[in-house]
Amino acid sequence: MTIKSIKNVKNLTGKRVLVRCDFNVAVKKNKITDDFKIVQSLPTIRYLVARQARIILLTHFGRPEGKRMESYKLNVIRARLEKLLGKKVAYVPDCIGKQAQAAVAKMKNGQVILLENIRFYKKEEKNDKKFAKALASLADSYVNDALAVSHRKHASVAAIQKYLPSYAGLLLAKEVLNLNKILSPAQPLAAVIGGAKLETKVPVIKNLRKKATAVLIGGMITYDFLAAKKLSTGKYKVEKAQKKLAKKLLYKNVILPLDFVAADKNKGAGKIKVVPANSLPTNMWQLDIGPETIRLYARYLKAAKTIIWNGPMGMFENEHFKNGTLAIARLVAAVSSGKAFGIVGGGETVAALKQTKMMEHVDWVSTSGGAMLEYLAGNKLPGLKKIIY
Ligand code: 3PG
Repeated sequence: MTIKSIKNVKNLTGKRVLVRCDFNVAVKKNKITDDFKIVQSLPTIRYLVARQARIILLTHFGRPEGKRMESYKLNVIRARLEKLLGKKVAYVPDCIGKQAQAAVAKMKNGQVILLENIRFYKKEEKNDKKFAKALASLADSYVNDALAVSHRKHASVAAIQKYLPSYAGLLLAKEVLNLNKILSPAQPLAAVIGGAKLETKVPVIKNLRKKATAVLIGGMITYDFLAAKKLSTGKYKVEKAQKKLAKKLLYKNVILPLDFVAADKNKGAGKIKVVPANSLPTNMWQLDIGPETIRLYARYLKAAKTIIWNGPMGMFENEHFKNGTLAIARLVAAVSSGKAFGIVGGGETVAALKQTKMMEHVDWVSTSGGAMLEYLAGNKLPGLKKIIY
């Protein structure tokens, strides 16, 4: 594999470098609640500052769907970035056109500017060539440092690579090198896949189960497997298409929960009890994996040399149903950094890991979720096309 890293470019002094970041952070009441993605982007920015490049940062934030929305402006992100970087970051309220061009023309070596939210432009998500060309006209080279959007065929991720020499940022390169260790794993490999939307997980389960001793299932997707096995799905109604998908995944090493923490209200209040997975009462929901399952999954995780985890095991945001997810988080963290090589990825999964205060024990915490799953499924990502091949 070749990684065209920005580190391979000899002279960056005075060069305008357009860096596609992922600053799509969690914000509540106009305050950033988790700046992990910004923190992880700092090494690339610092690298470019140290080499006296002119750094033009580009990111999406939320899904404003081509509209300029006050709540999706980048003010809080710019302020946090400035604080973390310890350096002024100028904000340009546009991505293309005269204002952006004038701002770039005024830049001095080592300066950093942040362009407007790229998703304020409809043409971004259409992978519009003209729009990509207009973006490209601002810079001498392009750096992708956002694995999290590299599965998106968007102008600032895909089309832009036609118009500028393109490189991997330091974060992107690290993400890919670490994910490669899952694709060529030290054996045994244990994969933990939870959360919802089975359709987004089918390719990765199919690919990993060929390499893994066990693919351990939890979370909402468990319902689809229950239906595929003609077992009770309790109060939850599984769609036919989902059941069909799960049926194709009933491999021997795709391991399903043995028991659940179930409740008769899906928000958690009401009656709660541990039930066997093969007889979820018809008036109940499964909202977490049960103790037998935790013991079983722990055996696989403790024996593993390589671990990948994406997707919570239940409704961990609720006090009553967080045990399974947090137990997996603690186990993954406990065996990582030494005994096994462990990767955790996906917004909710990382949030759960954070609750354990053991995040630093995990070998690699990915800034990406969906893109990570696509990469691990063996898919070619549009954002890596001319950079990693
Ligand atoms: C994420 O938060 O998962 C990434 O920033 C990608 O965002 P998207 O799913 O809106 O493309």
